[in-house]
Amino acid sequence: MSVILLTGGGRGLGRFTAQKLAEAGHEVLLTARDAAAGERAVDEIRAGSPRARVRALTLDLGSLASLRALTDSLLAAGQSLDVLFHVAGVMQQSPVRRVTVDGLEETLAVNALAPLYLTHRLEPLLSGRAVFVSSRLHLPGSRGVPVHFDFDDPQLEHGYHPQRAYKNSKLAVLWVASAFTRRWAASARTAHAVCPGFVPETVAASTQGFQRFLMTHVLAHMPFARSPAEAVDSFVFMATDAGVARQPGLFWGEKQPLASSPESRDEAKSERFFAWGLRTLGLPG
Ligand SMILES: NC(=O)c1ccc[n+]([C@@H]2O[C@H](COP(=O)([O-])OP(=O)(O)OC[C@H]3O[C@@H](n4cnc5c(N)ncnc54)[C@H](OP(=O)(O)O)[C@@H]3O)[C@@H](O)[C@H]2O)c1
Repeated sequence: MSVILLTGGGRGLGRFTAQKLAEAGHEVLLTARDAAAGERAVDEIRAGSPRARVRALTLDLGSLASLRALTDSLLAAGQSLDVLFHVAGVMQQSPVRRVTVDGLEETLAVNALAPLYLTHRLEPLLSGRAVFVSSRLHLPGSRGVPVHFDFDDPQLEHGYHPQRAYKNSKLAVLWVASAFTRRWAASARTAHAVCPGFVPETVAASTQGFQRFLMTHVLAHMPFARSPAEAVDSFVFMATDAGVARQPGLFWGEKQPLASSPESRDEAKSERFFAWGLRTLGLPG
């Protein structure tokens, strides 16, 4: 049985994945931005499975102070980790660019820089795999405003659009996963990326009005949509399947390796983003 640190455990796919993993006997450390949401998730999981080994940790991925505090305390405790699962993510709806308390563009900060921070700092505690949640939306030609990552403007200070911010962040997290894959080539650690598929029922929680109606009552019933249960099943597979660990550096969906974009496999861009990310996060290279 593994010790699994999973972000985004307070709600959404992270919440249900934490439950499945705990029910299967793994020890789960779930993080939530809101301490009460984390405790509620733990109570609910224990109510259904009294012997579940699960506890909540508070972590705001959009705050360097919060990332530092959690990683400092895990390092001080010498908490061993078999799996680090970066589930939490944000998809803004508003056209207004938002920045974190540290002045970083929020989508890139939460979806790509925070996983980089956690993995880099927790590396000494990690014996197994890191799983990064990306999205097929990083692919060129995916619906909406196209992906376009400009290293001269990584935080979209010019021409911000929430869809571009999301797609760029999911491209960037693939660069982070491949950078760790190269760094860990001679170790037992492995890095992997996954897309849960389009899950309208959890997307609905971040939308309002007609958008929410569309997600819940129309798109959720389309053949291309995935149910939360299917997506969680694929996340549990990513966290636990031995075959995944034997194939580091791949992008997965529905328990199968998928082709990620050629740009996501560009080693020079991956290294450039990784180095920029470390500098931006104030971490040693
Ligand atoms: N659903 C889909 O169709 C779909 C498709 C492709 C990829 N994905 C990816 O799959 C992952 C899970 O998606 P989901 O559908 O479960 O999303 P969700 O229901 O919106 O849940 C997002 C989770 O991320 C957490 N989060 C957001 N900002 C945070 C922050 N600053 N600090 C800490 N936690 C934060 C949320 O916690 P709070 O409650 O505190 O906000 C929540 O637990 C995400 O990475 C998403 O981008 C989803």
